[in-house]
Amino acid sequence: MAKTKTTFFCQNCGAQFPKWVGKCNSCNEWNTIVEEIIHKEENSAWKGASSKTRNIKAVKLNEITATDEQRINTCNHELNRVLGGGLVKGSVVLLGGEPGIGKSTLLLQIALLMKSKVLYVSGEESMTQIKLRADRLKTANNKCLILTETKTQHIFNSIDETIPEVVVIDSIQTLHTDYIEASPGTISQIRETTAELIKFAKETGTPVVLIGHITKEGNIAGPKILEHMVDVVLQFEGDRNHTYRILRAQKNRFGSTAELGIYEMLHTGLREVDNPSEILISEKDADLTGTAISATLEGMRPLMIEVQALVSTAVYGTPQRSCTGFNIKRLNMLLAVLEKRAGFKLGAKDVFLNIAGGIRVEDPAIDLAVVCAVLSSNNELSIAQDSCFAAEVGLSGEIRAISRVEQRIQEAEKLGFKKIVLSKFNKISKKNFTIEIIKVTKIEEVVSVLFKA
Ligand code: TYD
Ligand code: MG
Repeated sequence: MAKTKTTFFCQNCGAQFPKWVGKCNSCNEWNTIVEEIIHKEENSAWKGASSKTRNIKAVKLNEITATDEQRINTCNHELNRVLGGGLVKGSVVLLGGEPGIGKSTLLLQIALLMKSKVLYVSGEESMTQIKLRADRLKTANNKCLILTETKTQHIFNSIDETIPEVVVIDSIQTLHTDYIEASPGTISQIRETTAELIKFAKETGTPVVLIGHITKEGNIAGPKILEHMVDVVLQFEGDRNHTYRILRAQKNRFGSTAELGIYEMLHTGLREVDNPSEILISEKDADLTGTAISATLEGMRPLMIEVQALVSTAVYGTPQRSCTGFNIKRLNMLLAVLEKRAGFKLGAKDVFLNIAGGIRVEDPAIDLAVVCAVLSSNNELSIAQDSCFAAEVGLSGEIRAISRVEQRIQEAEKLGFKKIVLSKFNKISKKNFTIEIIKVTKIEEVVSVLFKA
């Protein structure tokens, strides 16, 4: 009988210890060490090409013939864009996201949409549940196969029988392999089952898409090593109370991580949003105070985003500052700049800031729109609906240049804006824009531009 060996793993970072300790000295977390039995066997569930038959030889770089990676079209424009042009053969993609955000929906929808033969393995839902979901999605693909199984040995048997072109696993935390005696979802099971799937993907050239749960901190559950092992890490995010969902690449060995996919969750599944600017700007009849529109860039995509601010006299002694979709520290900084450089007394005011549409913006070019929205609400003066803003605000109240300005101007022009306020230091090489470009250098100038009427 094979000897059973136990080791202690940190459930937070995956570090291994010979004996139990209270605190992991690698990630400094307390009470995360758990004993797991490991069955030491030089074996893995995927028994494809054995190492003896493989050609193990080092070759010179210039002897390797490189053709472009072969990509499989997912028939979903937004996913293709985030992946860098489609699923690369033999790649392993990990999709993370909060529970209920729509990971299973996205992948089932794509499995049903794709022209290739997809094996959708679910360890979370029953056949009937998947069928009901597929009925809601109203996309039929007779090539898509469904398997409800959690043991990797059985999954590989089914793969041998059906020979799919793409494998989807929902989710990696439910899988278990016979070669390890830990329960599903533990560090060693996740690591081992992922390793088996990666080996399978590399040896057969079949792309594998894994769904991963995330922890309450927002990281993918399981060891960090999981993210190192796979080729692509995607994050599906959004506010559960809003219908918009954003798909980002956190890591991509075959493309840029700057690309972004936008979806809308409808009762018939996820709709691809081709023109996000139109939905992110709320429709309004009259001129409202406290809103300003910013020309931002999310990845490579220009997005017109509406910033809403409400400034009111503080009821309690300490004024409240609250943000959704924007960094609160950055808001505090901008308020301090307004107070010190432009003389607005905001110290005793409550300030609430909201980015419309429930999305999060990191682009510094949104600064100027934030400042303008705050000023508009504070002074009860509305900003003309056909104006937009794109500039960073510095600590001394200077308006700073931003990247890819022409792309932003173009998007603003396309959407019918008449004026765009930019930094004077932004060089614009193309001259033939019909939109009026207003250049400012200091926050005081912005104030006079905004409220000159
Ligand atoms: P799901 O894909 O199960 O989330 P995850 O796998 O990330 O946990 O998504 C479930 C949510 O999506 C659920 O709250 C209902 C909603 N939904 C729709 O709004 N429309 C649909 O067509 C489907 C299938 C789900
Ligand atoms: Mg799910």
